Amino acid sequence: MTKEESPPIPSWGVPMNERLPVPVRITAVTAETPSVRTFTFDRDFSFIPGQFVMVWIPGVDEVPMALSSASSITVQRVGEATSALFSLQEGDVIGIRGPFGNGFPEAHRVLAIAGGVGAAPLLPVIRSGGVKKCLLGARSAEELLFPRILESFTQLAVSTDDGTCGHRGFVVDLLISEDLSQYDSIFCCGPERMMKAVLDLLVREGCPERGYFSLHRYMKCGIGVCGSCAIDPEGLRVCRDGPVFRGDILQRSEFGDYSRDASGRRRPV
Ligand code: FES
Repeated sequence: MTKEESPPIPSWGVPMNERLPVPVRITAVTAETPSVRTFTFDRDFSFIPGQFVMVWIPGVDEVPMALSSASSITVQRVGEATSALFSLQEGDVIGIRGPFGNGFPEAHRVLAIAGGVGAAPLLPVIRSGGVKKCLLGARSAEELLFPRILESFTQLAVSTDDGTCGHRGFVVDLLISEDLSQYDSIFCCGPERMMKAVLDLLVREGCPERGYFSLHRYMKCGIGVCGSCAIDPEGLRVCRDGPVFRGDILQRSEFGDYSRDASGRRRPV
Protein backbone atom coordinates (compact mmCIF):
# COMPACT_ATOMS: atom_id res chain seq x y z
CA MET A 1 0.00 0.00 0.00
CA THR A 2 1.46 3.36 -1.04
CA LYS A 3 1.47 6.35 1.25
CA GLU A 4 -1.39 7.87 -0.79
CA GLU A 5 -3.50 4.73 -0.21
CA SER A 6 -2.94 4.60 3.57
CA PRO A 7 -6.17 4.72 5.58
CA PRO A 8 -6.68 7.98 7.48
CA ILE A 9 -5.66 7.98 11.12
CA PRO A 10 -8.87 7.72 13.19
CA SER A 11 -9.64 11.00 14.95
CA TRP A 12 -12.12 9.43 17.43
CA GLY A 13 -14.45 12.27 16.47
CA VAL A 14 -12.53 14.87 18.48
CA PRO A 15 -10.13 17.40 16.93
CA MET A 16 -6.58 16.91 18.18
CA ASN A 17 -6.38 20.31 19.79
CA GLU A 18 -9.03 19.14 22.27
CA ARG A 19 -6.78 16.32 23.46
CA LEU A 20 -3.29 17.74 23.22
CA PRO A 21 -2.05 20.95 24.81
CA VAL A 22 -0.59 23.54 22.45
CA PRO A 23 2.68 24.87 23.91
CA VAL A 24 2.71 28.64 24.38
CA ARG A 25 5.46 30.87 25.76
CA ILE A 26 4.66 33.39 28.47
CA THR A 27 5.53 36.88 27.20
CA ALA A 28 4.39 38.94 30.20
CA VAL A 29 3.30 38.46 33.81
CA THR A 30 1.27 41.36 35.19
CA ALA A 31 0.37 41.74 38.87
CA GLU A 32 -3.23 42.97 38.83
CA THR A 33 -3.89 42.76 42.58
CA PRO A 34 -1.91 41.22 45.49
CA SER A 35 -3.50 37.81 44.70
CA VAL A 36 -4.22 38.00 40.96
CA ARG A 37 -1.86 37.95 37.98
CA THR A 38 -2.37 38.04 34.23
CA PHE A 39 -0.24 35.68 32.14
CA THR A 40 0.04 36.79 28.51
CA PHE A 41 1.31 34.29 25.94
CA ASP A 42 2.68 34.39 22.42
CA ARG A 43 -0.38 33.03 20.65
CA ASP A 44 -3.93 34.32 20.05
CA PHE A 45 -6.84 31.91 20.45
CA SER A 46 -10.13 32.51 18.66
CA PHE A 47 -12.76 32.49 21.42
CA ILE A 48 -16.18 33.59 22.61
CA PRO A 49 -16.02 35.69 25.81
CA GLY A 50 -16.73 33.38 28.74
CA GLN A 51 -15.09 30.31 27.20
CA PHE A 52 -12.26 28.63 29.11
CA VAL A 53 -9.05 26.76 28.33
CA MET A 54 -7.34 23.86 30.09
CA VAL A 55 -3.97 25.14 31.24
CA TRP A 56 -1.24 22.53 31.59
CA ILE A 57 1.47 23.47 34.05
CA PRO A 58 4.32 21.05 33.24
CA GLY A 59 4.94 18.56 36.03
CA VAL A 60 2.12 19.88 38.20
CA ASP A 61 -1.46 19.70 36.90
CA GLU A 62 -3.92 20.81 34.25
CA VAL A 63 -6.62 23.23 35.38
CA PRO A 64 -9.48 25.17 33.73
CA MET A 65 -9.04 28.94 33.37
CA ALA A 66 -11.21 31.53 31.66
CA LEU A 67 -9.55 33.58 28.93
CA SER A 68 -9.30 37.27 29.83
CA SER A 69 -8.27 38.06 26.22
CA ALA A 70 -7.35 36.10 23.08
CA SER A 71 -3.84 35.63 24.46
CA SER A 72 -4.11 35.77 28.26
CA ILE A 73 -5.48 34.18 31.40
CA THR A 74 -6.01 36.08 34.64
CA VAL A 75 -5.50 33.88 37.68
CA GLN A 76 -6.01 34.07 41.44
CA ARG A 77 -3.58 32.12 43.58
CA VAL A 78 -5.80 29.63 45.44
CA GLY A 79 -4.03 26.25 45.46
CA GLU A 80 -1.13 24.08 44.32
CA ALA A 81 -1.63 24.52 40.56
CA THR A 82 -2.11 28.28 40.68
CA SER A 83 0.83 28.65 43.08
CA ALA A 84 2.97 26.76 40.55
CA LEU A 85 1.68 29.07 37.83
CA PHE A 86 2.65 32.08 39.96
CA SER A 87 6.25 30.76 40.08
CA LEU A 88 6.50 30.97 36.26
CA GLN A 89 8.09 33.91 34.52
CA GLU A 90 8.40 35.49 31.10
CA GLY A 91 9.91 32.93 28.71
CA ASP A 92 8.48 29.87 30.48
CA VAL A 93 6.22 27.48 28.55
CA ILE A 94 2.76 26.22 29.48
CA GLY A 95 0.24 24.14 27.50
CA ILE A 96 -3.20 25.28 26.38
CA ARG A 97 -6.13 23.09 25.27
CA GLY A 98 -9.29 24.70 23.99
CA PRO A 99 -11.05 27.11 24.10
CA PHE A 100 -13.97 25.05 25.40
CA GLY A 101 -17.56 25.62 26.47
CA ASN A 102 -20.29 27.95 25.34
CA GLY A 103 -19.36 31.44 26.57
CA PHE A 104 -21.79 34.30 27.14
CA PRO A 105 -24.54 34.83 24.55
CA GLU A 106 -24.58 37.87 22.29
CA ALA A 107 -26.72 40.48 24.02
CA HIS A 108 -27.32 44.21 24.33
CA ARG A 109 -28.13 46.35 27.35
CA VAL A 110 -26.24 43.98 29.62
CA LEU A 111 -25.70 44.45 33.33
CA ALA A 112 -22.42 42.72 34.26
CA ILE A 113 -21.83 41.65 37.87
CA ALA A 114 -18.31 40.59 38.84
CA GLY A 115 -16.94 39.42 42.17
CA GLY A 116 -13.16 39.13 42.70
CA VAL A 117 -11.38 37.31 39.89
CA GLY A 118 -14.81 36.81 38.25
CA ALA A 119 -14.09 40.06 36.41
CA ALA A 120 -11.62 38.14 34.21
CA PRO A 121 -14.09 36.32 31.91
CA LEU A 122 -16.35 39.39 31.85
CA LEU A 123 -13.56 41.72 30.69
CA PRO A 124 -13.71 40.64 27.01
CA VAL A 125 -17.53 40.92 27.09
CA ILE A 126 -17.27 44.47 28.40
CA ARG A 127 -14.50 45.36 25.93
CA SER A 128 -16.66 44.18 23.03
CA GLY A 129 -19.42 46.71 23.92
CA GLY A 130 -23.05 46.10 24.82
CA VAL A 131 -22.52 46.19 28.58
CA LYS A 132 -24.45 49.15 29.91
CA LYS A 133 -23.18 48.95 33.47
CA CYS A 134 -20.85 46.82 35.58
CA LEU A 135 -21.12 46.14 39.29
CA LEU A 136 -17.68 45.17 40.60
CA GLY A 137 -17.06 43.73 44.06
CA ALA A 138 -13.97 42.65 46.00
CA ARG A 139 -12.77 42.19 49.57
CA SER A 140 -10.87 45.49 49.54
CA ALA A 141 -9.83 48.34 47.25
CA GLU A 142 -6.52 46.69 46.38
CA GLU A 143 -8.31 43.47 45.33
CA LEU A 144 -10.62 45.22 42.82
CA LEU A 145 -9.79 43.70 39.44
CA PHE A 146 -9.53 45.88 36.31
CA PRO A 147 -11.45 48.91 37.68
CA ARG A 148 -9.64 51.43 35.42
CA ILE A 149 -10.11 49.36 32.25
CA LEU A 150 -13.75 48.57 33.04
CA GLU A 151 -14.71 52.19 33.65
CA SER A 152 -13.22 53.15 30.28
CA PHE A 153 -15.75 50.86 28.55
CA THR A 154 -18.87 51.07 30.73
CA GLN A 155 -20.50 52.69 33.72
CA LEU A 156 -18.94 51.20 36.85
CA ALA A 157 -20.21 50.85 40.43
CA VAL A 158 -17.95 49.37 43.07
CA SER A 159 -18.37 47.63 46.42
CA THR A 160 -15.77 46.36 48.88
CA ASP A 161 -16.35 44.17 51.92
CA ASP A 162 -14.22 46.45 54.11
CA GLY A 163 -15.46 49.75 52.67
CA THR A 164 -12.04 50.86 51.39
CA CYS A 165 -13.61 51.76 48.01
CA GLY A 166 -17.20 52.38 46.93
CA HIS A 167 -20.13 50.84 48.78
CA ARG A 168 -19.22 49.03 52.00
CA GLY A 169 -20.73 45.58 51.69
CA PHE A 170 -21.47 43.06 48.97
CA VAL A 171 -21.91 43.60 45.27
CA VAL A 172 -25.44 42.20 45.47
CA ASP A 173 -26.33 45.22 47.64
CA LEU A 174 -25.67 47.37 44.56
CA LEU A 175 -27.96 45.17 42.49
CA ILE A 176 -30.91 45.80 44.83
CA SER A 177 -30.99 49.46 43.82
CA GLU A 178 -30.81 48.73 40.07
CA ASP A 179 -33.90 49.05 37.87
CA LEU A 180 -33.75 45.67 36.11
CA SER A 181 -36.13 46.84 33.36
CA GLN A 182 -33.14 48.81 32.02
CA TYR A 183 -31.35 45.61 31.09
CA ASP A 184 -32.04 42.74 28.69
CA SER A 185 -29.55 40.37 30.33
CA ILE A 186 -27.53 40.08 33.52
CA PHE A 187 -24.11 38.42 33.18
CA CYS A 188 -22.54 37.26 36.44
CA CYS A 189 -19.24 35.71 37.47
CA GLY A 190 -17.68 35.42 40.90
CA PRO A 191 -17.81 33.35 44.09
CA GLU A 192 -20.75 30.94 43.96
CA ARG A 193 -22.37 32.32 47.11
CA MET A 194 -22.40 35.76 45.54
CA MET A 195 -23.85 34.41 42.30
CA LYS A 196 -26.53 32.49 44.23
CA ALA A 197 -27.53 35.72 45.99
CA VAL A 198 -27.84 37.36 42.55
CA LEU A 199 -29.94 34.45 41.24
CA ASP A 200 -32.20 34.56 44.32
CA LEU A 201 -32.82 38.25 43.67
CA LEU A 202 -33.64 37.59 40.00
CA VAL A 203 -36.04 34.84 41.07
CA ARG A 204 -37.76 37.25 43.48
CA GLU A 205 -38.01 39.78 40.62
CA GLY A 206 -39.51 37.07 38.37
CA CYS A 207 -36.73 37.09 35.76
CA PRO A 208 -34.19 34.28 36.45
CA GLU A 209 -34.08 33.50 32.70
CA ARG A 210 -32.41 36.87 32.06
CA GLY A 211 -29.44 35.92 34.23
CA TYR A 212 -26.36 34.14 32.85
CA PHE A 213 -23.92 32.69 35.37
CA SER A 214 -20.40 31.42 34.73
CA LEU A 215 -19.77 28.33 36.88
CA HIS A 216 -16.52 26.97 38.19
CA ARG A 217 -16.30 23.22 38.82
CA TYR A 218 -13.56 20.63 39.21
CA MET A 219 -12.65 19.41 35.69
CA LYS A 220 -10.53 16.55 34.46
CA CYS A 221 -10.99 16.30 30.71
CA GLY A 222 -12.65 19.60 29.73
CA ILE A 223 -14.28 17.93 26.70
CA GLY A 224 -17.41 16.29 28.09
CA VAL A 225 -16.06 12.76 28.52
CA CYS A 226 -15.15 12.09 32.17
CA GLY A 227 -18.26 13.41 33.96
CA SER A 228 -16.23 15.06 36.76
CA CYS A 229 -17.90 18.45 36.18
CA ALA A 230 -21.52 17.20 35.93
CA ILE A 231 -24.03 19.07 38.07
CA ASP A 232 -27.05 17.54 39.77
CA PRO A 233 -29.79 16.65 39.08
CA GLU A 234 -29.71 16.63 35.26
CA GLY A 235 -26.02 15.82 34.80
CA LEU A 236 -25.31 18.94 32.78
CA ARG A 237 -21.57 19.11 32.10
CA VAL A 238 -20.08 22.46 33.02
CA CYS A 239 -17.26 21.99 30.47
CA ARG A 240 -19.56 21.20 27.54
CA ASP A 241 -23.04 22.53 28.35
CA GLY A 242 -21.56 25.55 30.21
CA PRO A 243 -19.64 27.06 31.82
CA VAL A 244 -22.31 29.75 31.32
CA PHE A 245 -25.83 28.70 32.38
CA ARG A 246 -29.12 30.57 32.38
CA GLY A 247 -30.55 31.31 35.80
CA ASP A 248 -33.79 29.39 35.35
CA ILE A 249 -31.74 26.25 34.57
CA LEU A 250 -29.53 26.70 37.64
CA GLN A 251 -32.57 27.36 39.80
CA ARG A 252 -33.37 23.65 39.76
CA SER A 253 -29.79 22.42 40.28
CA GLU A 254 -27.13 21.99 42.96
CA PHE A 255 -25.94 25.55 42.24
CA GLY A 256 -25.37 27.48 45.44
CA ASP A 257 -25.62 24.39 47.66
CA TYR A 258 -22.67 22.10 46.88
CA SER A 259 -20.08 21.08 44.33
CA ARG A 260 -17.90 17.96 44.05
CA ASP A 261 -14.19 17.48 44.67
CA ALA A 262 -11.70 15.39 42.64
CA SER A 263 -13.05 12.16 44.17
CA GLY A 264 -16.66 13.09 43.46
CA ARG A 265 -17.50 13.80 47.11
CA ARG A 266 -19.92 16.64 47.80
CA ARG A 267 -18.54 19.75 49.46
CA PRO A 268 -20.70 22.65 50.55
CA VAL A 269 -20.36 25.92 48.60
S1 FES B 1 -14.42 17.87 32.75
FE1 FES B 1 -14.80 15.87 31.96
S2 FES B 1 -16.92 15.92 31.47
FE2 FES B 1 -16.46 17.96 32.06
